[in-house]
Amino acid sequence: MALLSMRGVHVVVDTAEGPRTLVRLSELELAEGEMLGLVGETGSGKTLTGLAVTRVFPTPSIRLQGGSIELGGRDLAGLGERELLAVRGREVGVVFQDPNASLNPVFPVGRPLMDLLGLHRSLRGQAAVAEAVRLFQRVELPDAAALLSRYPHELSGGQRQRVMIAMAIAAGPKLLVADEPTTALDVTVQAELLRLLDDLRREAGMSVLFITHNLGVVAHMVERVAIMYAGDVVETGPTRAVLKEPRHPYTRLLLEAVPRQGQGRLKAIAGTAVPRSEIAQGCAFASRCPFAQDRCRAIEPALEGPGVHRAACLRQEEVLHV
Ligand SMILES: Nc1ncnc2c1ncn2[C@@H]1O[C@H](COP(=O)(O)OP(=O)(O)OP(=O)(O)O)[C@@H](O)[C@H]1O
Ligand code: SF4
Ligand SMILES: [Mg+2]
Repeated sequence: MALLSMRGVHVVVDTAEGPRTLVRLSELELAEGEMLGLVGETGSGKTLTGLAVTRVFPTPSIRLQGGSIELGGRDLAGLGERELLAVRGREVGVVFQDPNASLNPVFPVGRPLMDLLGLHRSLRGQAAVAEAVRLFQRVELPDAAALLSRYPHELSGGQRQRVMIAMAIAAGPKLLVADEPTTALDVTVQAELLRLLDDLRREAGMSVLFITHNLGVVAHMVERVAIMYAGDVVETGPTRAVLKEPRHPYTRLLLEAVPRQGQGRLKAIAGTAVPRSEIAQGCAFASRCPFAQDRCRAIEPALEGPGVHRAACLRQEEVLHV
């Protein structure tokens, strides 16, 4: 059963010339207890897609213009700011790439966690301390009780990210949005954190939207992927199928750009991504696509394909067999 179902999600930024489209998502679904890898180049709209779920955008000029975002059958797009407050943190937890942006350097790292336990679970005093220690232990932080009173600068990058994960799961959310949580860390720490996220997912039956540039990481850890380009999903399916038999030319090029050993950031592929707002009609990838034909500039391809492996490309059968 789908826990999260996003359809027609349209995110815009207000400019002097009027609203400009940043994300126009045909569809994205996440089953209960599933981890889905959301992969794409920089600027493809991964972060804004993740943020659209709870509508916490980086600036007030960015907003949700339309679409439906169903979480457990309830449409979050229709909720007001007050109702969304109860969803944030409680039903949907978020972990960002940079824990420093979320941890205040002047407070011990246990403080925001205990604030959250008070807010979402009405735990205070010794009960909050005991639960904070349990959560720190659960995310495999060493010497959990002593760590509560340490300051962010006294922890390693990996440990700070574990603190962020403890905060994100503190209220037992149904969905965790993890936006490149490991990108800034070294490879060994990345692997450990991914294993932890996967354990937490299994244990709590939580769904995880795992956002990354790194196709190598996705190949090993995630059963299903969605590839984003210019604000929309262009290919989705079981990871093995998508990586072994890509049906969209963009996925093919991304795979060719994967650095050796499957680690590190993706190399750039030829051409620059055209912002979604500048694509009047046809396929968003046409200006960079080695397979493009005239009809591609006229017809906007929908996500289609055999079974659960689908791509938004008019020539996917040919792409598959080249
Ligand atoms: N604060 C902002 N103001 C205006 N445009 C923005 C803002 N934040 C993002 N955008 C634009 O929205 C689009 C999607 O951005 P988003 O941050 O979601 O991409 P991303 O896939 O997460 O990229 P990255 O891999 O670099 O994190 C991009 O074209 C970006 O330039
Ligand atoms: S529809 Fe055409 S331009 Fe778009 S990806 Fe497919 S072949 Fe390339
Ligand atoms: Mg991002």
